[in-house]
Amino acid sequence: MTRPHPRILPYGTAAIAEAAALIRDGGIVAVPTETVYGLAADATNAEAVARIYAAKGRPSFNPLIVHVADLAAAERIAVFDADARALAAAFWPGPLTLVLPVRGDSGIAALVTAGLDTIAIRVPRHRAMQGLIAASGRPLAAPSANASGGISPTTAGHVAGSLGGNVPLILDDGATEAGLESTIVAGRTVLRPGPVTAEALLAQLHHPPGEQPPPGEGRGPIETSEITARNAKHNRPPIGPRPSPGGSDGGIIAPGQLASHYAPKKLLRLNATEAASNEWLIGFGEVAGDVTLSASGDLVEAAAKLFDLLHAADANERPTIAIAPIPPEGIGEAINDRLRRAAHR
Ligand code: TXA
Ligand code: MG
Repeated sequence: MTRPHPRILPYGTAAIAEAAALIRDGGIVAVPTETVYGLAADATNAEAVARIYAAKGRPSFNPLIVHVADLAAAERIAVFDADARALAAAFWPGPLTLVLPVRGDSGIAALVTAGLDTIAIRVPRHRAMQGLIAASGRPLAAPSANASGGISPTTAGHVAGSLGGNVPLILDDGATEAGLESTIVAGRTVLRPGPVTAEALLAQLHHPPGEQPPPGEGRGPIETSEITARNAKHNRPPIGPRPSPGGSDGGIIAPGQLASHYAPKKLLRLNATEAASNEWLIGFGEVAGDVTLSASGDLVEAAAKLFDLLHAADANERPTIAIAPIPPEGIGEAINDRLRRAAHR
C-alpha cells in the first residue's frame, strides 16, 4: 500500500550513502539533476526499473534516460560516432541526452530501452545525481520524478506532492537550475528541445554528417542538410527533415511513436489461457505457459521480464507467440499498452 509521505533528506554524505544503499537494493530514489528531479533506479536491474513505472503510474513503457558518471562510462553502454563525441565533449557534464546504438554487452535492462536497439544516455552535472551514481556504482535510469501526466518537478516539494509515498526517499538539494528537461538529440535530429539550444549544438557540428571534422577547422554555425540555421535561431525541433518513422536511416524517432517501439516479428495472440501446438505461451499467474512473466502474479516482476521474454519468444522455434491475460491494474496498464502495440498488425 502507498504510504502518504516520502522521507526527504537534505543533500549530504549520509543522505547519498543511504540513497545509494537503496539503489543497490533494487529500490527507487528521487534525486535532483541540473534539469529536473529524476526518479532513479539501477538501470541494470529490470525489477528496479519496473518500480519506476509502477511509482509513476505510467500507462506505457517509454524508454528511459540512463545517467552515468562520465564519457568513459557512457562508451561502455553506447556506441559513439564522431558527432556524438563532439557533442559529449562540448556539453557533458550537462543537460544534453544522446540517443545512440546500445552495446550488446551494456548490461542495461531491456525495460530501460523498451526493447529498442538505441539508448538515451547523459552525464549529469548536478552533485547529487553525480554523488548517487558514484556511491551506488550503477548506471541510473531516471525519468522525471512526477506521476504520469503531471508536470516535471523542480523541487523536492513537487516530487512529494506528485508521487507521495510511492517514492520512499527524496534527496533534497533545493530547486533545480534549468527547470526544464534535457535536450535530446538522435544523430542530427533534436527529439526534444531543452537547455542546450539548437544553435549551441550546431556550433559543434560543423562537418558533414558522418565525416570527421577536418583538422584545425574553426567552430561556428554551419548550415548542414539536417540542421538548419533557421531552426537554430528559433530553437525549435526538429532540426531539418525528420527521418521517417522506422525509416532505413535507422532514425527514431519521436518519443512515443509506434515505429520506435519494439514489436516482435511473430504474430502475438493476447489473453491466451492455453497454447495451440504452434504457439509459445508466455504465462502469468495461474496461466503457467512455456515461460512465465510471474508465477505469483506480481505485476512489477512481469513488467521487468516483458521485453526479455518477447525477444526470447521471437527467437525460438515456434512460429506464433501467445500471452496470458494481464490484469489492467497499476503497472499492468503499461504492460497491456505495450502488448496491444506489439500485437497490432
Ligand atoms: O532532464 C532530463 O532528461 C530528465 C532528468 C531526470 O535527467 N529526465 C527525463 O526523462 O526527462 P523522461 O523519461 O521524462 O524523458 C525521457 C525521454 C522520453 O520522451 C523518451 O521517449 C525519450 O527520452 N527516449 C528515451 N530513450 C529513447 C530512445 N532510445 N529513442 C528515442 N527517445 C528516447
Ligand atoms: Mg517526463
